[in-house]
Amino acid sequence: MTGELSPIDKAKFVAAKRAADMVEDGMRVGLGTGSTAAWLVRCLGDMVRKEGLKMRGVPTSTRTAQLAREVGIEIITLDEARWLDITIDGADEFDGDLNLIKGGGGALLQEKIVATASDQMVVIADVGKEVSRLGAFPLPVEVIPFGWQTTQALIEETLISMDVLGRTATLRMNGDTPFITDEGNHILDLHLQRIGNARQVALVLNQIPGVVENGLFIDICDTVVLGHGDGRVEIRDINQGTVEHDRLDFVESDNLFTDLAD
Ligand code: A5P
Repeated sequence: MTGELSPIDKAKFVAAKRAADMVEDGMRVGLGTGSTAAWLVRCLGDMVRKEGLKMRGVPTSTRTAQLAREVGIEIITLDEARWLDITIDGADEFDGDLNLIKGGGGALLQEKIVATASDQMVVIADVGKEVSRLGAFPLPVEVIPFGWQTTQALIEETLISMDVLGRTATLRMNGDTPFITDEGNHILDLHLQRIGNARQVALVLNQIPGVVENGLFIDICDTVVLGHGDGRVEIRDINQGTVEHDRLDFVESDNLFTDLAD
């Protein structure tokens, strides 16, 4: 129930709820991954069941696919959809240009493919995700398992010539074993602390053999829906240059709030 949610969860919920209202009948929707995106999936499922919203979703992870099915959203593959009307996803950090760090949940590869194949990408976030400069959150980089330590060494060597503060990369673990992505790869988290030129870092990282994709989303996000714990929501559109303010009431709904995912 919303009454039991922390202020951060309330912020995530109102951002997700406001973004769900952007989904219209007939839309093909990219469904993000993570705790904020899980709220979105629940809100959309609620709209499908209670309001008869007709939409199809392309999930960005097996976790999201499972949740979407549970709440009654029709799932299709990206290849079936070919192109999406909108993708709504969380982020680990976003800056004033709506460039992002994503991949804290390990789903950055499918997230980037899906967001890029969309007319618009909307990020839903609590206020703690906004930064003046990207990089405090460790940058996730998906690498293939073959020779990952060589890839790690190449990344660290490449970072020497980059405008970043930290240059160490650590293998993401899941308990005692390396974390495995939905695509069967590993994640290296780059502890950069501050990224001076995110566009350059994003381009250079993807040139290194063994790197599949990095978690910098440059010029991909169009809109951020920023939630506050008291129900206030701010919608920033980078293309229109507009900022809209809204406020959402918390509505008790057992279906939506009893079983928090992620
Ligand atoms: C998943 O791989 C990530 O990109 C998430 O979107 C990001 O980590 C945000 O997650 P939360 O909404 O749980 O903070």
